Amino acid sequence: MFVVFLFFSNLFAESNPSLTYTYNGASRTGYIVVDQEWRDTATADVNYSAIGVSTSGSSLTQVLVTPSGAIGSRLYLLDSTKSSYELFALVGNVEFSYDVDMSDLPCGMNAALYTIEMNKNGLKNDAQLGTGYCDAQFLGMVDGKQVSGCAELDIWEANREATVYTTHPCTFTGQSTKGSGSCQSDGCGFNAYRYGEKNFYGPSSSFTLDTTKKFTVVTQFIGNPLTEIKRYYIQGGKTIPNANPLVYNTANYDSITDAFCKTAGHNPDTNTNIAAMGKSLARGHVLSFSLWDSNDGMGWLDASEYGPCPGGTADSAATLEKNHPGSHVVWSNVKFGPVSNL
Ligand SMILES: *[C@@H]1O[C@H](CO)[C@@H](O)[C@H](O)[C@H]1NC(C)=O
Repeated sequence: MFVVFLFFSNLFAESNPSLTYTYNGASRTGYIVVDQEWRDTATADVNYSAIGVSTSGSSLTQVLVTPSGAIGSRLYLLDSTKSSYELFALVGNVEFSYDVDMSDLPCGMNAALYTIEMNKNGLKNDAQLGTGYCDAQFLGMVDGKQVSGCAELDIWEANREATVYTTHPCTFTGQSTKGSGSCQSDGCGFNAYRYGEKNFYGPSSSFTLDTTKKFTVVTQFIGNPLTEIKRYYIQGGKTIPNANPLVYNTANYDSITDAFCKTAGHNPDTNTNIAAMGKSLARGHVLSFSLWDSNDGMGWLDASEYGPCPGGTADSAATLEKNHPGSHVVWSNVKFGPVSNL
């Protein structure tokens, strides 16, 4: 039987790691697929252990420097059919939550959990090959060119020192090429450190949220049209309300609203306000888990006004890959459904 199994697993499509999650109160089993760019050729199967990706039940691990030599990974959640992406409509008093272990992610790393308005079936009905990526920086590949843009919601971009969540709506519906539409590329981001709450998030018990230990991130989407994106945390059985910083000496904010974005200097209009983000979310977004570093560090997330890290070459990809090759993130217990408490 063992021999037969190996024979078939080589003959047919790759064995995508399975992941259980909760969708409207019911347990579902989906599959992880890595983005097309991680494949040697467009149709090549991927060995997930070789790219540092593994799952167990509801838990998913991503590693920085992997046995294959690939650096990090960008993954999507396929539904139970394994041929379409799972879609999440994040509007109308619903919440999205997960547990995360950030303890092994130093300055310069970015472990991101985010959603994008990709097509459910990928580029050409080939979602099982991780195709059809798009984002608010137009980094989706079509025919070998980075051109495809779409609305993006960064529920989580973080390492153990810094965290932000950010809306990136676009002027168009679905996907578009650069030039025929635009997206709010800087986005409206909530980073409490930036607005003076420097003791909220960090790697010791002196922070409100201690990133040396696992915690739950709950994000709530209020109204349809969307009016507010709220956040709270749970750690060690305790509910931790979001930070509530005084933004530019104007008002305190603990969530993303048009008022917050305006105070933060983003001047929301009909293309960039939270309702515009909500219109895209209502059409359904694909879930992406990403672990990455950058040649220039992650200063926009964790250095200068954004966080306590040095930024620049001290946190560059080369430094991290040499000094922290085993950096990894563990996501678990993804849940989506009606708001459980407000
Ligand atoms: C997959 O990659 C792992 C880690 O590099 C390796 O040990 C294993 O032999 C590979 N499996 C196959 C089928 O190539």
